Amino acid sequence: MSSSESQLARLLEPVQPGIERMREVMLRQLIESSHAVGDMTDHVGRFRGKQLRGALVLLSGEATGNTTDEHPAVAAIVELIHLATLVHDDVLDGASVRRRVACVNQRWDNQTAVLLGDFLYARAFALSTDLSSRLASRVLAEATRRLCVGEIDQAALRYDFELSQERYEEIAGAKTATLYAAACELGARYPGGREDVGSSMRQFGYELGLAFQIIDDCLDVVGDERVVGKSVGNDVEDGKITLPVLYAHKVGDDATRAAIRDVFTRPDLVGRCERLRGVCDLAAGVEFAMARAKELVDRARDRAARLEPSAHRTALMELPGFVLERRW
Ligand code: FPP
Ligand code: MG
Repeated sequence: MSSSESQLARLLEPVQPGIERMREVMLRQLIESSHAVGDMTDHVGRFRGKQLRGALVLLSGEATGNTTDEHPAVAAIVELIHLATLVHDDVLDGASVRRRVACVNQRWDNQTAVLLGDFLYARAFALSTDLSSRLASRVLAEATRRLCVGEIDQAALRYDFELSQERYEEIAGAKTATLYAAACELGARYPGGREDVGSSMRQFGYELGLAFQIIDDCLDVVGDERVVGKSVGNDVEDGKITLPVLYAHKVGDDATRAAIRDVFTRPDLVGRCERLRGVCDLAAGVEFAMARAKELVDRARDRAARLEPSAHRTALMELPGFVLERRW
């Protein structure tokens, strides 16, 4: 286990029993009599990822005095939706490595990966119908709608260097922060009521999730695939203009801007991300983006600090710092 993996394990320690139950519920949903599907669910089920979103359901519940027997199932639903979105996302991005192993689209093919993503999504919603309250289905259906809109808007704005930072954040927020926000809201208010505490925890999750995506976008341009554990450089290959690139483009002179656009758009160019690092001050872009991520993380930490003191509150206060420091 790397030192940041053990740091995360330590942070999530107060909800470890709940995480174990969440895993059991999730794995039960992956059982399928078809050998073909079973091979794939084994593949995606073996690799745990950070399980941050599921853990946030549990931590938010405990830290706000709202725990029920159904919280691990709610956490499992959130993780299953997350997994479905990643399987689909890797098809869209043509990615090859995720969580240190071959993506489903790489090991099998795009068609199969789309169907497996659908399968996982269907399992998540089947599980939500077993719950005693419809709140989780309602909140998560809305979160899924918003993350799909975020992905579609992102695709529509590829190669658009006139993108504002505000619009970039709206899209990053929709595609990633929405599910973090839903996880924290559900933790704090499932099975219902408690609108105020739910809204505050939703804000916490949104700030944390937006910071997570900004950092993800920095890792995509300067991260090391062996450390990050997934394909990097995809955003440049796909024409996605992320915050570090937007900033490098904005502060560059005319020649630099033209060179950045050329790296993104010249047909058949090989190694676009590597070339991008050579034509502009990407380090300045990353520094700017990380400063914005830090603002969000500080806000999230301050919000968690308003909760009653407990081991769970401590974890919620330390998670933003972990997200900021993460390299995977
Ligand atoms: C990661 O972005 C992508 C997401 C957080 C959301 C992807 C969502 C979809 C493709 C919609 C799926 C819809 C359903 C109903 C399952 P990224 O590519 O920036 O991050 P990465 O580096 O982890 O790939
Ligand atoms: Mg991706």
